[in-house]
Amino acid sequence: MYSATGMLMLLTAALAILAPSALGLDRAEFPPGFLFGAATSAYQIEGAYLEDGKGLNNWDVFTHTRPGDITDGRNGDVTDDHYHRYMEDVEIMRDLGVNSYRFSISWARILPRGHSGGVNSAGIAFYDRLIAALLQKGIEPFVTLHHFDQPQELETQYGSWLGTGIREEFDYYADVCFRAFGDRVKFWTTFNEPNVFAKDSYMLGTYPPNHCSSPFGTCNSGNSYREPYVAAHNIIMSHAAVVDNYKRNYQAKQGGSIGIVIEMKFYESLTNNTEDILAAQRAMSFEIHWFLDPLFFGEYPKEMREMLSSNLPKFSLAEKRLLQNKVDFIGINHYTAIYAKDCMLSPCDLNTYEGNALVLAIGERDGVRIGKPTALDGFYDVPEGMEKIIKYVDKRYENVPIYVTENGYSQHSSNGLEDLVNDVGRVNYMHGYLSSVASAVRRGANVRGYFVWSLMDNFEWAHGFTVRFGLYHVDFNTQVRTQKMSAKWYHDFLMGSRPVDALQTLRADY
Ligand code: BGC
Repeated sequence: MYSATGMLMLLTAALAILAPSALGLDRAEFPPGFLFGAATSAYQIEGAYLEDGKGLNNWDVFTHTRPGDITDGRNGDVTDDHYHRYMEDVEIMRDLGVNSYRFSISWARILPRGHSGGVNSAGIAFYDRLIAALLQKGIEPFVTLHHFDQPQELETQYGSWLGTGIREEFDYYADVCFRAFGDRVKFWTTFNEPNVFAKDSYMLGTYPPNHCSSPFGTCNSGNSYREPYVAAHNIIMSHAAVVDNYKRNYQAKQGGSIGIVIEMKFYESLTNNTEDILAAQRAMSFEIHWFLDPLFFGEYPKEMREMLSSNLPKFSLAEKRLLQNKVDFIGINHYTAIYAKDCMLSPCDLNTYEGNALVLAIGERDGVRIGKPTALDGFYDVPEGMEKIIKYVDKRYENVPIYVTENGYSQHSSNGLEDLVNDVGRVNYMHGYLSSVASAVRRGANVRGYFVWSLMDNFEWAHGFTVRFGLYHVDFNTQVRTQKMSAKWYHDFLMGSRPVDALQTLRADY
């Protein structure tokens, strides 16, 4: 009889033989210096939630006080225990063959209580060690300052992103990071998906601080029609102030670049009717232009100004001046395309993510799905959407440098280990989406990097541990990391190996 570990090793060996190569995709097609990486975020992987002086953050408090809001009632107290296992994880990255790693810094580990509480030197030391380990293996750190988590103290003091006081807090935090790590970190992003967290936190109430109003949800406080836009305004101005500081005081001597990461679905019009075509445009506007138009054109998009009127803040002249030239690159997080149906002329349920744009996002047209479903509702495998979104951003925002900062495929945790590790669905997804990136590059888009979400299975926010996005499987009881077939596939692609293989068969089987 084999032990469980023995069986797992046999399984992994068998998968290594079966694993498909990156047939038809060639790393050499990408420009020299192209970053190929994997991504994670602090709250989702670090654990050690109260160790070495870290303060409580909004997600610590939310998951502890409202476990019912997380599908499996769990939290990020331990998750991947990356705080203690980062050396092993860096070793995994080296084996994978990536030349960069996108991670976020936990604000509450650096400033446990915000500016007033002082800098936690143990927090600085942790990221120093992580960055040193990465550089030692030739892996470029690509750092996010804010990936959904912030010190809880700032919620108490300012109502987090609803108060203007947080702008100075974020500026101070970013400055501490530039000073501490900027000699070695050459890629910075201010915010990860502020469009998602502004809506989930203040419109739908599914993220802390759980604010919403009817019909979007039932919360103790909030105003779903106003608060997301107030928060977004403070976020946009915080971004501008931080980039201003970086450009004035750090960029010349540290030689890095700084951008912002936006979540971008590609909205296809459900029909050829004018109202659905306009609905798709509105959805793009409320998703993408909301944050990027101010940074490129100094103004919120016309559709939003017209529809939201006084609920949408206005930029003062001084703010408009500060907004200029504040993006070195755009980070695109792209997972799916989706159909957009108009809700202006025909009534729909509007208590959804796109409800504020009077749009309903749906996955089917005439009973046919837009792509193969994945474990998360509303996320489909539609590879051509990647090229479309890159082209869209490239055109609207002046051929700006683009990094695909997230792209990935989810599995249900309830699937058996064999199925989770033998992740043919993810291999096909990555093959399709990377081919789509390659095609965009061939057509002249200024794409400079691609990061898989995620390096390893982790805490998936409101879904807890019920879905898995990792290239590496993590057993959350033992913390054993196991290479999935997709990791082997990515490795082969990165190594430039293109043996004739079984990919076509696997595609047919899938
Ligand atoms: C986020 C990640 C998340 C992933 C999958 C993005 O919204 O940046 O934190 O885990 O998508 O849902």
